[in-house]
Amino acid sequence: MFTFKKSKTLQLITTIIHSIQSQITSHPLISLSVFSLFLIEILIFCSHSPPPPPVLLPPPTPSDHKCDDGKVYVYELPPMFNSDLVGTCEDLDPWHWQCGVATNGGYGMTATKLAGIVPESLAPAWHRTNQFSSEIIFHNRIMKHKCRTTEPESATVFYIPFYAGLAVGKYLFSDSTTEERDFHAVKLIEWVQAQPYWPKSNGSDHVLVLGRITWDFRRLTDPEKRWGSKFLNVPEMQKVTRLTIERAPGDYQDIGIPYPTGFHPSTPADIQTWQNFVRTYNRTSLFTFVGAAREDVGDDIRGLLLRTCRNESLSGTCRVVDCAVTPCANGSSEIMESLLGSEFCLQPRGDSFTRRSVFDCMVAGAIPVLFWNRTMYDQYEWYLPEEPESYSVFIDHGDVSQGKKSIKAVLDSYIGEEVKKMREKVIEIIPKIVYSDSDSNGGMKDAFEIAVDGVLKRFKSEREEVRRESAGK
Ligand SMILES: *[C@@H]1O[C@H](CO)[C@@H](O)[C@H](O)[C@H]1NC(C)=O
Ligand SMILES: *[C@@H]1O[C@H](CO)[C@@H](O)[C@H](O)[C@H]1NC(C)=O
Ligand SMILES: *[C@@H]1O[C@H](CO)[C@@H](O)[C@H](O)[C@H]1NC(C)=O
Ligand SMILES: *[C@@H]1O[C@H](CO)[C@@H](O)[C@H](O)[C@H]1NC(C)=O
Ligand SMILES: *[C@@H]1O[C@H](CO)[C@@H](O)[C@H](O)[C@H]1NC(C)=O
Repeated sequence: MFTFKKSKTLQLITTIIHSIQSQITSHPLISLSVFSLFLIEILIFCSHSPPPPPVLLPPPTPSDHKCDDGKVYVYELPPMFNSDLVGTCEDLDPWHWQCGVATNGGYGMTATKLAGIVPESLAPAWHRTNQFSSEIIFHNRIMKHKCRTTEPESATVFYIPFYAGLAVGKYLFSDSTTEERDFHAVKLIEWVQAQPYWPKSNGSDHVLVLGRITWDFRRLTDPEKRWGSKFLNVPEMQKVTRLTIERAPGDYQDIGIPYPTGFHPSTPADIQTWQNFVRTYNRTSLFTFVGAAREDVGDDIRGLLLRTCRNESLSGTCRVVDCAVTPCANGSSEIMESLLGSEFCLQPRGDSFTRRSVFDCMVAGAIPVLFWNRTMYDQYEWYLPEEPESYSVFIDHGDVSQGKKSIKAVLDSYIGEEVKKMREKVIEIIPKIVYSDSDSNGGMKDAFEIAVDGVLKRFKSEREEVRRESAGK
């Protein structure tokens, strides 16, 4: 009964999210603005001069040590906008996902089931982290950031610690009214507009983190497609920068950040231990597929991949973890063993383009196989190398569903040295996509640090741009 209801709801979600995405991407005005933003980004990119070569120079003081790029002020919001939204439930239920989301600063409880699989010294670094917990993780970490200031006058970035995903998540799967879905968002906008720092910029120096995908905050007007809140549709939000696990590729204010995985190392030594572990792990299968088929969605590539993998598992070529059977969102040892034991992992899109599993895969040192460009390449520019082929394999979804390409044949065509080189690239990326469990991690830039640095730098270059413009007049 429950399963039936759940699958019907999921089908509806898939359809609605598809419509929001296609509406946003097919709008001609938006395409035009995407193009101009693209040009602007090229200009910004070209205007950065390369850093001077480090040879022969005395070791420089890291420029960000003095917070040369600016400082962050964190608003103290009424608890209704963050702490009150966190449930008290201690467990992590994939359906009622808000449970346990805030334990350990958003990292969740220790993943005891992984003991014996991961190196012993790293067992405490593995958690059952909820994939939607980034708004809590960022809030916790920003409070301890070296460039946080308690004096708003000296700030260049205003951080709004609103748990927008938790606020709407409470209503997504129930028969709630649009007023209920928008309640916290509307109140938050009223609150922030009343602050003295808002009118100075109308939000353009403000930032927040969305723990859910951007589409959950862009409700369509069609009453039949009443998914999510209208948070990002309102005029007041148009200049506010949002860090989110899935961005709308056309929207300059959306910045893609990695989904939180379960791995939260504390020191560079932890990272190195893990990198060596995944580099030397005996990978006995060519590929793996972790996921569930969606029987009720027509043309479901996941179903096809699941069948292909099952078929290939007879010869040991593929390892399958069927999430309809295994509780995949719960730090499962079966998933970890499959990802560690395989050279490649298949990453089709789900309800939306992105998946947490892409990050689980790479953290385990497996090479991701993508079927849609928007699953990774157009999402996480601050984190990934520019050449997708250096760390991943792309097989167009159309070629798979029409039977034009065999996954095994494509993956078999990579020879040992090529696979090794790609894996090395994946291993190099790991420190950047994990959220570390330390505030002074020996200069190691994790996903959080990269995001904060990026926002500080972006706002700084925008200020310089404004200054140049007014000087030119
Ligand atoms: C997740 O794992 C915990 C601890 O191992 C267990 O108590 C809980 O029942 C599991 N939840 C689900 C939904 O499987
Ligand atoms: C902010 O918006 C208000 C109302 O639209 C406008 O009057 C004001 O000039 C804007 N301020 C800035 C700094 O853009
Ligand atoms: C890797 O595993 C295979 C299959 O279990 C085994 O035959 C092989 O000896 C192992 N290789 C190493 C280096 O442990
Ligand atoms: C399963 O494997 C058999 C034998 O290798 C092959 O003939 C068949 O086409 C495969 N089916 C799928 C769905 O991949
Ligand atoms: C998708 O990415 C692949 C790999 O980088 C590239 O070859 C292909 O042209 C891209 N497709 C589209 C439609 O952008």
